[in-house]
Amino acid sequence: MKRNIEDAFNLHLNAEFYSFYLYLSMANYFEAQNLGGMAHWMRVQSEEERSHAMKFVDFINDRSGRVMLQQIDQPRTDWNSALEVFEDAYSHEQLISGKIDELVELANQHHDHAAHQFLQWFVSEQVEEEATSLGIVEQLRRVGDNPVGLLMIDQQLVGRAPSGDSTSA
Ligand code: FEO
Repeated sequence: MKRNIEDAFNLHLNAEFYSFYLYLSMANYFEAQNLGGMAHWMRVQSEEERSHAMKFVDFINDRSGRVMLQQIDQPRTDWNSALEVFEDAYSHEQLISGKIDELVELANQHHDHAAHQFLQWFVSEQVEEEATSLGIVEQLRRVGDNPVGLLMIDQQLVGRAPSGDSTSA
């Protein structure tokens, strides 16, 4: 694989590992708030992010590139409300979608069809991830300060099943 695509993929897998860290941090915040359903949802999400990073690791290796792991930034650890956490999650997914789009542009510029095809899974995944986090943001906005509403959403999120590599939530 071309060097600049390899470098960009290495940079991106770091962003996916950061996503793993960020969602794990959000899970721990919810544990501390005794919102077990939201903690569970974030824990599952963090595992998905780790699997996204590993897809990049495997792709680089399969193309005889060199995986270069870099330092992972410290994520935020505190928020003021469940709504603020999910708003952050939604913003983060928008940021990641932008990065995926840039990778697709780069693959196209270099006529790297294998990289282009690999990235298509992530293009679809990002549509779903943005929609899911925004959906929860909207529910949380609707319940506002109502503690019963908050607990109902928490109960609903406890049902998120761990997902396999090819599925998402
Ligand atoms: Fe792997 Fe949520 O982006």
